[in-house]
Amino acid sequence: MSVDRPRPLVAGNWKMNGLRSSAKVLSEIHAGYTPGLKAKVDLLVCPPSTLLHVFALASVGSRVAVGGQDCHAKELGAHTGDISAEMLADAGATYVIVGHSERRQFHGEKDADVCAKAVSAHRAGLTAIVCIGETRQEREAGKTLNVVRKQLRGSIPVDSNPQNLVVAYEPVWAIGTGLTPTAADVAEVHALIRDELRRLVGKAEAPKVRILYGGSVKPSNAAELMAVENVNGALVGGASLGAADFLAIAGAYLG
Ligand code: 13P
Repeated sequence: MSVDRPRPLVAGNWKMNGLRSSAKVLSEIHAGYTPGLKAKVDLLVCPPSTLLHVFALASVGSRVAVGGQDCHAKELGAHTGDISAEMLADAGATYVIVGHSERRQFHGEKDADVCAKAVSAHRAGLTAIVCIGETRQEREAGKTLNVVRKQLRGSIPVDSNPQNLVVAYEPVWAIGTGLTPTAADVAEVHALIRDELRRLVGKAEAPKVRILYGGSVKPSNAAELMAVENVNGALVGGASLGAADFLAIAGAYLG
């Protein structure tokens, strides 16, 4: 293992799921985050924003981080329904996901929008989890590497460093489908991302940036996916909604 290899991060993206009663899941995650797991892997839960503050308060002292799922690029103003990075930070978030494919697909977000959101995350002192990934059509057309490279170059702010940036590779066709790329396909894309990061954050810092894999990560496939070179953790959707599965995925790092 390289000395530069970053500490892994397993992050749960709850998407539009979770009510106040879901605090029970969070307390089960706290209870299951054993000293053995704490020694090996960071945990992050990104609930809907309605639960952020209460989750952040409940997580004080637990070493489970809490994050938002999106933010607006501006700090404040006339943007009905939007939430700024400063508001997320004020609610207790330390991370925010930006550029998730569901935002790109259903809200028309382009790389420049994602980059502006990541800039706002940094302005507010948050770590931006920048999501990229190809569609099924793009993969079948052999365009995966070009698409991922272009998204990465367009979405990563110039002030990024290993503390304020996490990259998540989420093939769109693998999200919520039960399908996953082969380990070799994941390795190929993550190697490309690492290579691009050398240009974007510099040779010395690039090995320290965490690159997560996301898309149908489950307890049954986590060990294989997390063992792939340049995979430094997971961004988990459906399987993060229950504490047992989420902790079992993190448990892939117990070896
Ligand atoms: P699933 O784990 O449900 O496929 O979702 C992945 C994802 O979109 C995480 O951001």
